Amino acid sequence: MSYGIKAAERLANKSILITGASSGIGAATAREFAHASRGQISLILGARRQERLQQLSQSLTTEYPNIKVHTAFLDVTIKDSIREFVNGIPGTPDVLVNNSGKALGRANVGEITDEDIRGMMETNVVGLINMTQEILPKMKQRNTGTIFNVGSIAGWDGYVGGSVYCASKAAVRYFTDSLRKELIDTKVRVLEVNPGAVLTEFSLVRCKGDEQAADKVYEGTEPLTAEDIAEIIVFGSSRRDNTVIAETIVYPQHQASPVHIYRKC
Ligand SMILES: NC(=O)c1ccc[n+]([C@@H]2O[C@H](COP(=O)([O-])OP(=O)(O)OC[C@H]3O[C@@H](n4cnc5c(N)ncnc54)[C@H](OP(=O)(O)O)[C@@H]3O)[C@@H](O)[C@H]2O)c1
Repeated sequence: MSYGIKAAERLANKSILITGASSGIGAATAREFAHASRGQISLILGARRQERLQQLSQSLTTEYPNIKVHTAFLDVTIKDSIREFVNGIPGTPDVLVNNSGKALGRANVGEITDEDIRGMMETNVVGLINMTQEILPKMKQRNTGTIFNVGSIAGWDGYVGGSVYCASKAAVRYFTDSLRKELIDTKVRVLEVNPGAVLTEFSLVRCKGDEQAADKVYEGTEPLTAEDIAEIIVFGSSRRDNTVIAETIVYPQHQASPVHIYRKC
C-alpha cells in the first residue's frame, strides 16, 4: 500500500514497539511500518520465539539499510519479562502496538481447562495492561505517543465456545476505551483495531497445533491477511497527531459477525 509522502514524513525517525512480532499481524505490522517509513524507523520487536524475530530483523535490515531493529525476548504473561524488555529498549517508543494474543480451545463453560483460561486472560488482558502500564508513564512524560491495541470482533459479539476469548477481548475493548478517556487532556492517543477472520497462526494455536482442524476454520472462505490489518495499524498511526481513528472493525467480505460466515463449499 502507498501511504504517501505525508505518512513517511510523520513516521520518520519514530520508534515503534510491537508485541507478538514473531508471526501473523505483529510481524506484518513491523514490515508495513518499515515500508511506509521507507526504512527510516526504529522497530522494537518482542515475542517468545527469538529465532523468528531474528529472521524478521535480518530480512528488514537487508531490504532497508537505514532501519534500526531491536529484538528481545518478551513473555507478556510474566511481569518481570515485560520490565526487562522495556528496560532493554533504547528511549521511549512513539507507538506501542499491543498485539500479543491468542485463543485457546473451543470448550464450553464448565469444560474449559485452567491452563486455557489463564493462557488467554494472562496474555490478552493482563499482559496488555502490564505492557501499557510500563510504557504509558514515559509517553505521558513526553506528552506524545500512540497506543494501538489489537482487539477482536470477539470483544463485540460473544459466540458458543468462545466465552473466555470473547471476555478477554471485551476487556481489551473497555480498557482501551477507559484509557482514551483518561488521556483526553494529553497528546497520547489510543486506537483499537478489531479484526474478523485473519489467516495467521491464530487458529493453529487455538487448535493446539492440529493443522487439519485449523485449516477447517477457513474452509470455503477468503479470510483477511495479516497485511490487511497491518495496513490499518500503520494508517492509524501515521495520521496527524490530532486525528484518532478510535475503533475499527474489519471483516473480510464474507463475514458479518464471529459466526455469520458465508462458505462456498
Ligand atoms: N487471526 C485472527 O483471526 C484474529 C482475529 C481477531 C483478533 N486477532 C488478534 O490479533 C492478535 C495477533 O494474532 P495473530 O492472528 O497474528 O496470531 P499469531 O500468528 O498466532 O500471532 C500471535 C503473536 O502473539 C505472540 N504471543 C503469544 N503469546 C505471547 C506471550 N505470552 N508473550 C508475548 N507474545 C506472545 C506470539 O509470539 P510467540 O508465540 O513467539 O511469543 C505471536 O507473535 C492477537 O491479539 C489476536 O487475538 C486475531
